[in-house]
Amino acid sequence: MQKIALEMTKNPRQKPLDQNNLGFGRYYTDHMFLMNYDEGQGWHSPRIVPYGPISLEPSAMCLHYAQEVFEGLKAYRAKDGSIRLFRPDRNMARLNISNERLCIPQIDEELALEALKKLVKIDQDWIPTAEGTSLYIRPFIFAVDPHVGVHPANHLIFCIILSPVGAYYPEGLNPVKIYVEENYVRAVKGGTGFAKTGGNYASSLKAQDEAAAAGYTQVLWLDGIERKYIEEVGTMNVFFVIDGEIVTPAIQGSILEGITRMSAMEILRSWGLQVHERPISIQELAQASDQGRLSEAFGTGTAAVISPIGELKWGDKLMVLNNGEIGQISQKLYDSLTGIQWGSLPDEFGWTVKL
Ligand code: COI
Repeated sequence: MQKIALEMTKNPRQKPLDQNNLGFGRYYTDHMFLMNYDEGQGWHSPRIVPYGPISLEPSAMCLHYAQEVFEGLKAYRAKDGSIRLFRPDRNMARLNISNERLCIPQIDEELALEALKKLVKIDQDWIPTAEGTSLYIRPFIFAVDPHVGVHPANHLIFCIILSPVGAYYPEGLNPVKIYVEENYVRAVKGGTGFAKTGGNYASSLKAQDEAAAAGYTQVLWLDGIERKYIEEVGTMNVFFVIDGEIVTPAIQGSILEGITRMSAMEILRSWGLQVHERPISIQELAQASDQGRLSEAFGTGTAAVISPIGELKWGDKLMVLNNGEIGQISQKLYDSLTGIQWGSLPDEFGWTVKL
């Protein structure tokens, strides 16, 4: 494995003073990881350096054609003082899946994991300890060829930055209101919907903005062909409880295969609950809601954790779930997942990695 060079900062940054008011993605730690890719040399020069601006040519390809991928995971400071990561190997594996789709050369997952651990250890004093907080880890790769022609890049940068965060949604664990999007689509099968790439999020901004103006936290995307089947919510996968059966859209090429999604399914099944991955139409949801059979809905994501949904607005139809309050399954799942992540519950699945 290549050796990771280290340059410590001489100017430590001011840490946020109020851990209960971190928001999401507002603060960054003292250091970052960098590595370059140059054709002929492959990935080289892994190094941890002081956090700071990266200089790019105005013609850098990522700025024009969005050849970019990213990941999101978290480090937690457990009650026993240990630092824990949650299934980081899955993030690195998914980064390479996204790389493949975006014509970005594969990274060495072991090296990336090593770099990530080293970076978190160096900046460990930034891991917040207040309830509901963590250190968000953002690995990302972008094309830097100074070339305004469309082709896969020959020069790229892999970077990891760290950010102490609180809840992603200002609502915290209070149920969010979601707008079912009928005009815009996020992705179609054959596109990049399954990859974690900035373009997917850029194309969601307009719908997100309109939903926010109407008083909704996020949009629920429908499939891009029939505009009928549920896909995912802005920054999370989505689950529904219908007649006691837990359902979530099947992975079919246009949605992200969330790591929190797969963990949630494993936890729910370990309780003996039925979880089915299948197509779910918006009409089925509306009917179940009318008949009082839709008891809960929640989103899952690294940033969002488990986010209960209190209201779904589809055209003129308003579906209120569990009187707008967090449901039993959502609450229990949140408690179990975060218990494992923060080390207050035993990790029977072997998901946490202690540093
Ligand atoms: C995450 O949950 O880590 C994500 O990547 C969502 C992000 C766009 C905030």
